[in-house]
This record gives sequence, C-alpha cells and structure tokens, in this order.
Amino acid sequence: MDESIKQILARESAGGAVLIRGWLRTARHSKNVSFLEVTDGSGFAGLQAVASPDLAEYEETVRKLATGCAVEVEGELVESQGKGQKYEIHASRVELVGGVGDDYPLQKKRHSLEFLRTLGHLRSRSNTIGAVLRVRNATSRAIHDFFQQRDFLYLHSPIITLSDAEGAGEMFRVSTLDAKNPPRDEDGNVDFAQDFFGSEAHLTVSGQLEAEIAAHSHSKVYTFGPTFRSENSNTARHLAEFWMVEPEVAFCDLAGLAELAETFLKSVFRDVLEACPDDFAFFDQRISPGIVSNLETIIESDFVQLPYTEAISILEASGRDFEFPVRWGIDLQSEHERFLAEEHVKRPVVVTDYPAEIKAFYMYMNEDGKTVRALDVLVPGVGEIIGGSQREHRHDVLLQRIRDLGLPEDEYWWYLDLRRHGSVPHAGFGLGFERVVQFITGVANIRDISPFPRVPGNAAF
Ligand code: 4AD
Ligand code: MG
Repeated sequence: MDESIKQILARESAGGAVLIRGWLRTARHSKNVSFLEVTDGSGFAGLQAVASPDLAEYEETVRKLATGCAVEVEGELVESQGKGQKYEIHASRVELVGGVGDDYPLQKKRHSLEFLRTLGHLRSRSNTIGAVLRVRNATSRAIHDFFQQRDFLYLHSPIITLSDAEGAGEMFRVSTLDAKNPPRDEDGNVDFAQDFFGSEAHLTVSGQLEAEIAAHSHSKVYTFGPTFRSENSNTARHLAEFWMVEPEVAFCDLAGLAELAETFLKSVFRDVLEACPDDFAFFDQRISPGIVSNLETIIESDFVQLPYTEAISILEASGRDFEFPVRWGIDLQSEHERFLAEEHVKRPVVVTDYPAEIKAFYMYMNEDGKTVRALDVLVPGVGEIIGGSQREHRHDVLLQRIRDLGLPEDEYWWYLDLRRHGSVPHAGFGLGFERVVQFITGVANIRDISPFPRVPGNAAF
C-alpha cells in the first residue's frame, strides 16, 4: 500500500523518494515550472508536486494537467519554500492516470453546498464534503472506542423488522408482493401472510427493542446502524435514512442515563477534535466561526438538566412570540428546543420527564402518572441530537400502556414477555449520528452530512 499523503506530511523530516496517487485540487503552470496540488482524501491538506520542464513528459503531459485529473507522482520529498506547507515533492515522474472533461464542474472557486448536492458523484472531492466525510469517519471511531473501552457489546440489530419500535407508524414497507396485483384476503385487504416474511415487514426505525433484549443478557450493549423513517419532513435536520447509535444499559435509571449521555458526548467531541485538527481549522474558518472553542467549552462544562415542566415555564416567561404556542403538554418544536439550548443555557441542555402523551409507549411512568422518565439532549444550532429514556420494565404497567394507546398487543408479545423473565430497570438512548456530526462541524444542512442523503422526493446517487 502507498503511504498516504497524511502520513507523508507527518514524517519527521524531508528527504527520500515518495510516490503519491490522487486527484489535482489545483494545477498552476508558469513559464518554467508547474505546481500540482495533489489530494488523496487522507487529510485536509494536499501535497504540492513541483514539476520542471526537464521532465521528458513535461510538454506532452504535465502542462496539460488541470483540476480534477487523477495522477501518480514520484519524486523527492523536500522542505517547502512556500508558505503554509511543510514539504513538497520535486517530481521525477508525473503520470496522468485519468483525465477530466472540459466541463469538470469542481473548480478552485467556492461552490454552494446546494450546487454540490446535484453532484453526488463528485462532491466528496470538494473541501467541505471531503472534510465532513473524514469527521464522520472519526466520529464513528470515537463512538466505538467509547463503548468498547467500557465493556459495551456491539449488537447488530436487524434492519428488516416486524415491529414498530416507536409506535409512530413512520415505516417503509419491505415486500416482494406484486404491487400491481397483490393477493387479497376474504375482506379484500392485501394478504401479507403470503408476503416474503409471512407478515407485513418494514425497515427498522430504531434498534432499541432488540437492544433491550441483549441488555437483558449482556448488561451493557449498543447498536450503531442505519435506521429509516418515512416521515415527510423537509427540514435541515431530517433524513429518511440515517444512522443511529443506541446504547442500552441494564440496572440503569434516568439519572444514570443522563450521566452516560454527557460523558459519551464529551468523549466523542474530544476524540474528534484531536483526530481531525486540519478539518476543524477549516470548519472554524469557513463554515462556522468559533466552532472549535465552542466545543472546547462544552467539553469543560457541565450539561444543564431541566425537567420538561420547568422548560415550559422558561419558554412561557421568555416573552417570545413562538410560531407554536407554548403550554404544558405540547411537544417541543425546533424553535423551542433552539431557544432553550441557544439562548437560555447557550450550551447542551438535557430536558427530562416529558408528558407521557407526547412520548413513545415504552417509557417508564413516573409516580405522578403524567410524566415519563424520558430525556432529550438539545444542542445549539441543531436542537435534539439524543432521545432516550428509562424503560418501562413492569409488565402490568407496560401492557396497560400498550392497550391504552391501541397498539397491536400481539406484535409486541416478545417485548412484553421479556418483562416476565428476569426483568430489570434499564435505560437507553438513541443518538442521531448525522445530527451529532452536523453539530460538531457546524454544517447547516444534514443533507451535507450524509454522503448519500435520502429525503422525500430524492434518493439519487
Ligand atoms: O428520538 P428518537 O425517535 O428515539 C428513538 O428512536 C429511540 N428508540 C432511541 C432510543 O431510546 N434507543 O430518535 C433518536 C435520535 C433523535 O434524537 C435524533 O437525533 C435522531 O435520532 N433522529 C433523526 N436524525 C435524522 N433524521 C431523522 N428523521 C431523525 N429522526 C430521529
Ligand atoms: Mg426524539
């Protein structure tokens, strides 16, 4: 394997032969020399190759090189005289591996992120999306490291499922029935008994229910996988396909969960800042000024915890004219979440104990009979990045709740049965992976965080 450009730039000293392969971020040709900036995606920085007319292939190849060309360059690594770069290559051989059409759309100038979205096959070569992908990668690693160091088991929860983990009905159907002419039962309804899985199946909205199973055997587990929601939300923070990280912990209550969420987020922020300093310098300069010191402050300070009832009082007392009027019982809208995180505490805030009515069926009912042991972590700029709860582990209470909500009791049979055999208090949360990367990079739209965003009306690339 070739040494990556990142590894070459991290060398202790110049000297010696190097070989790099990559794409030209820029090619500048002057009278007696050509400067080729090569990137291979390994880091934000490229490596500049200097090619002189002595090269046999100079006129024929080098002078014709342009932004976007794929090249292979061999030469000597020398200290760079130019500003902003440590080393450069004095090229002894330059080979064109793949040329570009005259209409190559990514030029040195800044392109809007909207424009880049139309070029899903090329945009990962742009500075912003290139940096996002590296931060995504570093964030995944930081997440696994956090849990692995603490003895959590990585559970691979299923993607195809018969259960609606959130009970909200926002699921994509998975079926092999003939859509134009499906089999019908006596009442004329589509007969899913004849479908591939013998019943109606969907893409999962969350791996939580399966994580709860594993928590009852392996104590501390987490899932990290794709989840799907068919909610028709055209916003800067919703995707129809996104990745979720879901720790689930046995013998844990809401307070323990809040502590886990805070330690976890801080650890991820710290690791990612350390792993991608050049990318963060870029985000800080070009995308979201102050983002690095902001993250550093968050790492150093305690998260604020706020019971929902108190949050409502704060919103009511704010004097703000919210689009969605505030009263006890409402689900917090983005504008409310952002007011709390951005203006009221100016940091992440953990809102707890929401009204049962606006939360999912599986949350532990408080003694007041009105609120559940839920928590949402809200952050400035994005709003909710984590949603979680202590789970209802009491069989009778859970059964009553499922019945009260009119959910299909038989479909949750095993979830209920789990409460009959060695049931323990347990808690877990879901972190929206794209949302957290959105927060740490400061990129405004979640469609620029997913390499291949799936949103209503669009699954191109
Ligand atoms: O709050 P949610 O719906 O919670 C659950 O799914 C629980 N089963 C999690 C658990 O307790 N194990 O989703 C969790 C997180 C949200 O806080 C948000 O960050 C993200 O998933 N999320 C989305 N991200 C992008 N696009 C969407 N459409 C999202 N819906 C939820
Ligand atoms: Mg939620």
